[in-house]
Amino acid sequence: MSAATYSERRGELKTYFDRTAAAAWARLTSDAPVSGIRATVRAGRDAMRATLLGWLPADLHGCRLLDAGCGTGALAVEAARRGADVTAIDLSATLVGLARERAPRDLAGRIVFEVGDMLAPGLGHFDHVVGMDSLIHYRSHDIVDVVCGLAARTGTSLLFTFAPRTPALSVMHAVGRLFPRGDRAPAIEPVGARTLTRLLADAPGLAGFAQARTQRIATGFYTSQALELVRR
Ligand SMILES: C[S@@+](CC[C@H](N)C(=O)[O-])C[C@H]1O[C@@H](n2cnc3c(N)ncnc32)[C@H](O)[C@@H]1O
Repeated sequence: MSAATYSERRGELKTYFDRTAAAAWARLTSDAPVSGIRATVRAGRDAMRATLLGWLPADLHGCRLLDAGCGTGALAVEAARRGADVTAIDLSATLVGLARERAPRDLAGRIVFEVGDMLAPGLGHFDHVVGMDSLIHYRSHDIVDVVCGLAARTGTSLLFTFAPRTPALSVMHAVGRLFPRGDRAPAIEPVGARTLTRLLADAPGLAGFAQARTQRIATGFYTSQALELVRR
């Protein structure tokens, strides 16, 4: 893993989601009214969450699931409702605190919330690992390295999303770079779907996995693509 890139980016993301964007993120992930642009992002994210949950077994009793980069915990809650024993981890203590507050009391025993890196060695092994939009700010080689790290602890399926390189996303990316560094969010790193597919296929750490379903969700200002890796 290119340590500088990964750890630098991780530090930026922690600051961003813990402080700069914590309030906006709390609102986006709630039922509170949001602007038209954000409403499209919320709708896209809802569709993506439903897609990822739809790729998991309906009955998750007896399964351990890692919500890798859980944010405010919506996916963790849905997986726990279906019976999974969930570990939900995020870099941002602020967002994990909010996730803990929002988790319904009857599911409290089913979700363990942690603050830290999704690759933290003490987390153990899981049947399913899901990283919804938690790798979209990393460069393609770092995405592959993180996915390999997660795969080593995955027994059945690993689902994650990436930001596909589309003309619209490339324009947004370029415009974002026009703002002074201090004013902007850590950049999303668009990656070509074919490039990523090839990098994953060539990664020795993923030799035991096959690439299965993929689904792109593009709704207004939200574009993200899910990929399913299943153990052979
Ligand atoms: C765009 S948000 C998505 C949050 C959540 N998955 C959702 O869909 O609501 C990305 C999250 O990934 C977290 N994240 C990024 N890199 C991480 C890492 N290496 N370990 C744990 N969390 C990470 C960030 O702190 C942030 O909360």
